[in-house]
Amino acid sequence: MQPSMAAVVSLLLLVLLVPATTAFNITKILKGHPEFSTFNQYLTETHLANEINHLQTITVLALDNSAMSSLLSKGFPTRVIRNVLSLHVLVDYYGAKKLHQITDGTTTTASLFQSSGDADGDAGYVNITDMHGGKVGFGPANTGDLNSFFVKAVLEKPYNLSIIHISQVLDSAEAEAPTPEPSKVNLTSLLSSKGCKEFSHLLTSTGAQKTFQENIESGLTVFCASDSAVKAFMPKFKNLTAGNKTAVLLYHGVPVYSSMSMLKSSNGLMNTLATEGPNKYDFTIQNDDESVTIKTKVVTAKITGTLVDEDPLAVYKLDKVLLPRELFKPSATPEPASSPEAEAPGPDAADGPASDEDDDVADSTSHKKKNNAAGLINGGGILALGLTLCYCVLAAL
Ligand SMILES: *[C@@H]1O[C@H](CO)[C@@H](O)[C@H](O)[C@H]1NC(C)=O
Ligand SMILES: *[C@@H]1O[C@H](CO)[C@@H](O)[C@H](O)[C@H]1NC(C)=O
Ligand SMILES: *[C@@H]1O[C@H](CO)[C@@H](O)[C@H](O)[C@H]1NC(C)=O
Ligand SMILES: *[C@@H]1O[C@H](CO)[C@@H](O)[C@H](O)[C@H]1NC(C)=O
Ligand SMILES: *[C@@H]1O[C@H](CO)[C@@H](O)[C@H](O)[C@H]1NC(C)=O
Ligand SMILES: *[C@@H]1O[C@H](CO)[C@@H](O)[C@H](O)[C@H]1NC(C)=O
Repeated sequence: MQPSMAAVVSLLLLVLLVPATTAFNITKILKGHPEFSTFNQYLTETHLANEINHLQTITVLALDNSAMSSLLSKGFPTRVIRNVLSLHVLVDYYGAKKLHQITDGTTTTASLFQSSGDADGDAGYVNITDMHGGKVGFGPANTGDLNSFFVKAVLEKPYNLSIIHISQVLDSAEAEAPTPEPSKVNLTSLLSSKGCKEFSHLLTSTGAQKTFQENIESGLTVFCASDSAVKAFMPKFKNLTAGNKTAVLLYHGVPVYSSMSMLKSSNGLMNTLATEGPNKYDFTIQNDDESVTIKTKVVTAKITGTLVDEDPLAVYKLDKVLLPRELFKPSATPEPASSPEAEAPGPDAADGPASDEDDDVADSTSHKKKNNAAGLINGGGILALGLTLCYCVLAAL
């Protein structure tokens, strides 16, 4: 990418996500409980509140102000506090009644820390055990040490949201481990060490890594293709011009942070680091119950793993290389969900409003909004930018 284009490009790097209807506002709920005010403040500061509001089934293990002050006395940076608190957010529903009805009296359940990419093995799971005398103990599943106990149910909305007061911070060395400052993360070495070695090599050899690295601090989501997917793609890649090689790689980056729960609760169009003026280089995020898929006009790839998910950087692994329609022809046999397409994927194909009409969106309710947004971008004016940013703000809530 030309440095002179950087300013223009950064203005055009927009993400259009259909705002998810959040079920509740944890900040607002906890406001009514002053004994959790510090906990509430840190849910906001660590951006976990946002994550929580995007989940539909959740148990928050709330820490009162004295438990929080013992955590804060350790002087952790915010990103470590985020890891610790994310261990206290369980992605399942446990009301007071269910706690006492656990099969065999003990279970382990996943927390948000598990999806952060910082939790090795089962460090991101929480052990809940119904003990003698009606006592319920909690602890990180990897230690076998139940150091915190059920105090009371704060709020129950079966089977979506439960807030449980527990006696103290779950004692987890993994959650408290130092994590590098995100802006200091070396993206290429991170990709190499976590299973995207081939993709990382391509970033380095084309120089595309520089654009990725520069975008981390302001928020970045990277979709890296698995080694086998990259190997299978190499013959096609080698055929591209240098500029188009870079474009394909930049197509795997989105210039905002999107956590897994945000991806799971949003279907819609995303622009990428390759988006530049009329060259849309966008794709569609689509969810079914369990998996998140990314659809270009040419290929549908599935997220198979999380390498990092920690504001401002998220890195996910895909089972396929993302092929932009700007450079590749849609396959002759369209995949079931996509609409039939006759248009040739030339560099200009994306410009006309006609091509917006057949953008395939599974969620029909979002269709209108998305077409509007796409039209605005074609307009290219300041108004379009402002309105589009509004969508971004809404999506971020
Ligand atoms: C509760 O969760 C279910 C699925 O688990 C979802 O369908 C429903 O919309 C949720 N309700 C609210 C109020 O979020
Ligand atoms: C949640 O509630 C807080 C406090 O009432 C408010 O500041 C915030 O804007 C709300 N967030 C959303 C997404 O409505
Ligand atoms: C939870 O921890 C207790 C105490 O260490 C242990 O006995 C129990 O087996 C653990 N439960 C599970 C499901 O691992
Ligand atoms: C990342 O690490 C690689 C090798 O470890 C090194 O060559 C490269 O210069 C580093 N990049 C940055 C941006 O520090
Ligand atoms: C590479 O380009 C050549 C010449 O245009 C073409 O014959 C060949 O099929 C292409 N290979 C791939 C893998 O696309
Ligand atoms: C990229 O590929 C397209 C179509 O194959 C071609 O028209 C265009 O010139 C290429 N762009 C660059 C920068 O190489």
